[in-house]
Amino acid sequence: MTLEARKLVAGYGDKSILEEVSFTLEDGEILAFFGHNGAGKSTTLKAVIGLIETRGGEILLDGERIDQLPIGQRLERGLRLLPERRGVFPDLSVEESIDVVAQRNCSRDGCKITRSDVYDLLPVLRERRKVIAGEMSGGQQQMLAFALALLGSPRCILLEEPSVGLQPDLVEELFAKIREICGRLSISAILIEHKIASAMKIANHVIIINSGRLVFSGPKTEAEKINLWNYF
Ligand SMILES: Nc1ncnc2c1ncn2[C@@H]1O[C@H](COP(=O)(O)OP(=O)(O)OP(=O)(O)O)[C@@H](O)[C@H]1O
Ligand SMILES: [Mg+2]
Repeated sequence: MTLEARKLVAGYGDKSILEEVSFTLEDGEILAFFGHNGAGKSTTLKAVIGLIETRGGEILLDGERIDQLPIGQRLERGLRLLPERRGVFPDLSVEESIDVVAQRNCSRDGCKITRSDVYDLLPVLRERRKVIAGEMSGGQQQMLAFALALLGSPRCILLEEPSVGLQPDLVEELFAKIREICGRLSISAILIEHKIASAMKIANHVIIINSGRLVFSGPKTEAEKINLWNYF
């Protein structure tokens, strides 16, 4: 799987936000996506998944243009978005949530990740399966949100600040799980994060945007040699 954004332009109303943002993501890779508040990170993910229209540039999945496709067809092709703090159904139990999403995402042939797979990948969810999602800790809710994104045949998961509201040790645990599962199942991810050090531990590539423009793009090894804060 390759997800490629070429010179993406997007905005709201008469406001232009993204100015020719480009990046490439290969199978099983994690792209850490940094930038100041209001830089345009969430806007980029919204454009990739299809929540907003692009005004220029191209988005390609395995070489096929997807930027004109409705959101449903992008989901069918394996894109998933985990929006900040909105990834679970707060009134459903863990089991009910997994069942609801599995019914939709696993009905077709060739479903790569089934209900029982997500319980095996994230055993904490088996222990908590009767608990109402909204009553779980923030860390467990993020594990559930990630599990829901995994059901079916995901190829690229867009993660919007999954660490928000989590204790530092839970951030490390969640990120280690994301790294392990993405690597093992060849799923790629874009990780928007303000917790830069934690995100760097699991990233393969790093991009930074400043006021809607790409100011850094490179492999993790290159990003480690520079002071990333200079780009904010
Ligand atoms: N629905 C909207 N309508 C109009 N302007 C918006 C809308 N959503 C975001 N913006 C503006 O677009 C710019 C980029 O916002 P965006 O949410 O993409 O930033 P971000 O990098 O995700 O920031 P943060 O780190 O705070 O989440 C900001 O100036 C913001 O005010
Ligand atoms: Mg944002």
